[in-house]
Amino acid sequence: MILLAPSILSADFAALGAEVAVAEASGGDWIHVDVMDGHFVPNITLGPPIVKAVKAHTSLPLDVHLMIEHPERYIADFAAAGASVITVHAEACVHLHRVIHQIKELGLMAGVAINPATPASAVREVLEDVDMVLVMTVNPGFGGQAFIPNTLRKIRQIREWAAEINHHNLRIEVDGGIAEDTAGLVAEAGADVLVAGNAVFGRPDRAAAIQAIREAAEG
Ligand code: DX5
Ligand code: ZN
Repeated sequence: MILLAPSILSADFAALGAEVAVAEASGGDWIHVDVMDGHFVPNITLGPPIVKAVKAHTSLPLDVHLMIEHPERYIADFAAAGASVITVHAEACVHLHRVIHQIKELGLMAGVAINPATPASAVREVLEDVDMVLVMTVNPGFGGQAFIPNTLRKIRQIREWAAEINHHNLRIEVDGGIAEDTAGLVAEAGADVLVAGNAVFGRPDRAAAIQAIREAAEG
């Protein structure tokens, strides 16, 4: 089953409660929350207090994407704030295996993300430990960027490795430039969690936008 995760990065930050409620009513499956620290990526967004505030306005799982250095220092805070899924970047973790298990020990789904220039092999040794791999389909930092097609072969490779180790419920998430025109490509390659910021919150009719992406993904 394909999950759609509207990213609040493209929502109205002054009306986040209403925005996540609309995303839920419009058929979103998860709410994707982009945390940026101005170091790992050239942008700054939000922290645990905002996650906690958003949590009060939706019953959907909060999918927290940490684009930060030293994510291990903040995992407990994001868990306490109401995250259901926490994804850390492989590039930001010297002890990636330890950080993944830190997330799992809190009872959450653990994800590992890789930037467009990071090879799929960066997640190979932890594939059996994670619930999800996030293949970034843009360079992280901003919404509304163009999809990078070379990322498709990494999705296929990771799906193949998951089959080899019988990790059949591994989720593969894609994030960046996902819309009606790219959803089919990533789903065909093996992605099953689709993040969309601009393609949902940039449209006046969010329900129609989510429906269109879902239909494109399901072919
Ligand atoms: C980018 C973020 C994304 C962003 C995607 O660094 O991780 O989640 O919101 O935005 P769109 O869907 O507009 O490319
Ligand atoms: Zn994201």
